[in-house]
Amino acid sequence: MKPSLDQLDRSSVADVLRAAPMVPVITIENIEDAVPLAIALRDGGLPVLEVTLRTPAGAEAIRLIKQEVENVVVGAGTVINKQTLDLACNAGSEFIVTPGTTDGLLEAAIKSGVPLLPGVSSVSDIMRCLDHGFNRLKFFPAEAAGGVKALKAFSGPFSDLQFCPTGGIGLNNMLDYLSLPSVLSVGGSWVTPAQAVHEGNWQVLRDLAQEASDKAKSRS
Ligand code: 3PG
Repeated sequence: MKPSLDQLDRSSVADVLRAAPMVPVITIENIEDAVPLAIALRDGGLPVLEVTLRTPAGAEAIRLIKQEVENVVVGAGTVINKQTLDLACNAGSEFIVTPGTTDGLLEAAIKSGVPLLPGVSSVSDIMRCLDHGFNRLKFFPAEAAGGVKALKAFSGPFSDLQFCPTGGIGLNNMLDYLSLPSVLSVGGSWVTPAQAVHEGNWQVLRDLAQEASDKAKSRS
């Protein structure tokens, strides 16, 4: 069944993240893969898509998916400075994800008006984001930066934060994260294996998305 996003407040990053418990982190090498890949993930139950700007095709992929694929929310990932922020905004990104934070990037993102999910891996990063008014955060690289234990520890001094942990998460541990009250959704690249994308085997992606989406539904 295709998810309906009609009621979604796309100006709120929290609402965007609540629309799907798992956000695929997508890297597009060939632009012709963008639309079928997005359709496969959406049809597998994952309508919120983060397309990274790690490849030259990234920005154009965002533009194409937004134009041609209904019932998805498409954002830009790997936004690391003003230049990539402008690229993301000009492509029509509906939200922006950064792997880390700088004051300059946070200020530029606020000016852009596009919903932002800033990346943090430490208490100091969290404090910088709070200074700029952000309390919905990407925790990256989640597993390497302390995983579930770190998120639980962050809840001590910071009780009103909500996270999308990403990095080292897969089917095996996604529920460990999703069962935390501070976790809105998780991110990961495991639903877009390079080989299946290269072969255009969209059924594999659809099945992986469905598996992740079904598993997330069993969160406690
Ligand atoms: C990211 O950019 O958010 C990560 O590279 C995704 O991490 P993963 O490949 O470990 O899922």
